[in-house]
Amino acid sequence: MTETTTRRTSPADVLARDTAPTAHLAGAGTRHRVLSGMQPSADSLHLGNYLGALVNWVKVQDDFDAYFFIPDLHAITVPQDPESMVRRTRVAAAQYIAAGIDPERSTLFVQSQVPEHAQLAWVLMCMTGMGEAQRMTQFKDKAAKQGAEAAGVGLFAYPMLMAADILLYQPHGVPVGDDQRQHVELTRDLAQRFNARYGETFVVPEGFYPVNGARVYDLQNPLAKMSKSAASPNGLVNILDAPKVIAKRIKSAVTDDGTEVRFDREAKPGVSNLLSIYAAVTERSVAELEEAYVGRMYGHLKVDLAEAVVERLAPIRERALELMDDPAELDRLLARGAAKAREVASPVLADVYAKVGFLPPAR
Ligand code: TRP
Repeated sequence: MTETTTRRTSPADVLARDTAPTAHLAGAGTRHRVLSGMQPSADSLHLGNYLGALVNWVKVQDDFDAYFFIPDLHAITVPQDPESMVRRTRVAAAQYIAAGIDPERSTLFVQSQVPEHAQLAWVLMCMTGMGEAQRMTQFKDKAAKQGAEAAGVGLFAYPMLMAADILLYQPHGVPVGDDQRQHVELTRDLAQRFNARYGETFVVPEGFYPVNGARVYDLQNPLAKMSKSAASPNGLVNILDAPKVIAKRIKSAVTDDGTEVRFDREAKPGVSNLLSIYAAVTERSVAELEEAYVGRMYGHLKVDLAEAVVERLAPIRERALELMDDPAELDRLLARGAAKAREVASPVLADVYAKVGFLPPAR
């Protein structure tokens, strides 16, 4: 089913090629596109979202025509409170911008403001097998959490909506976390299936996965990924936390037996997590940091790390809060983003509708 190709994992690899095999579909002479999004399911992004995804998105803007969006349609696949939805959608946008997504250079928008996403999703759902959708591990996990019978059909449809999000923009790359790999593979399968059935339409996109994983683990349980749904908030660092809170969380992170500051995921998961966070926020290498802490204690590492993280996050927090102070301006910005997104998405959807055999749009 899935065509085996060499996986290119970095944007630079793709750029290194003269032309993508499907470049003609994205329009000659245009920069390669990328697209990604993160669900607005908490009041703040956390350090794992920031280092694992957002930092990468910010970099990718230099070389790609980038589309970033807030998948609010995906968010309601599990129950959400309407007021929180509104707040979280805006706060997500504010954090993207504060972290360096430039709405002038990239297209930043909210999914529900571009109706083409839901429209294409329907067509793709009609081309997906029940068995195929049932094999999605994220669906199985989330459905199990809701209780199999209580899980909504939306949760089941989630991957096909995600495929629609992607395919509407003809991106070459989709920078996402490893956990989204199966969804990107399904997207590729659906693109190929559609192309085979109706003629060349979609660019078959590639996942851009973090290479050595700026993966951030819970500060209290360094065997689990940092996650908003963690048992205790003490293991989390949120972008919008006050500097004092951030420092406290880092200083009370669990460490391991022994005293040596050394990277070893197996024997020292706590210290290793702190080291990789430190490396990521300061853009230094882990080896260099190990060297710097020879003969020093965990406590020193924590104090320095707390300072480094606060220094990195404080300006982002301030800028995000400033943007949140003017929701009308933020909404205007997002409306402009949605209009830009529709310029790309709407002809693609029109092409799909015509190929499937729908009558021309009623005018
Ligand atoms: N599923 C992604 C997540 O869990 C969010 C998402 C929805 C997405 N649609 C997408 C990511 C399209 C990349 C491309 O965060």
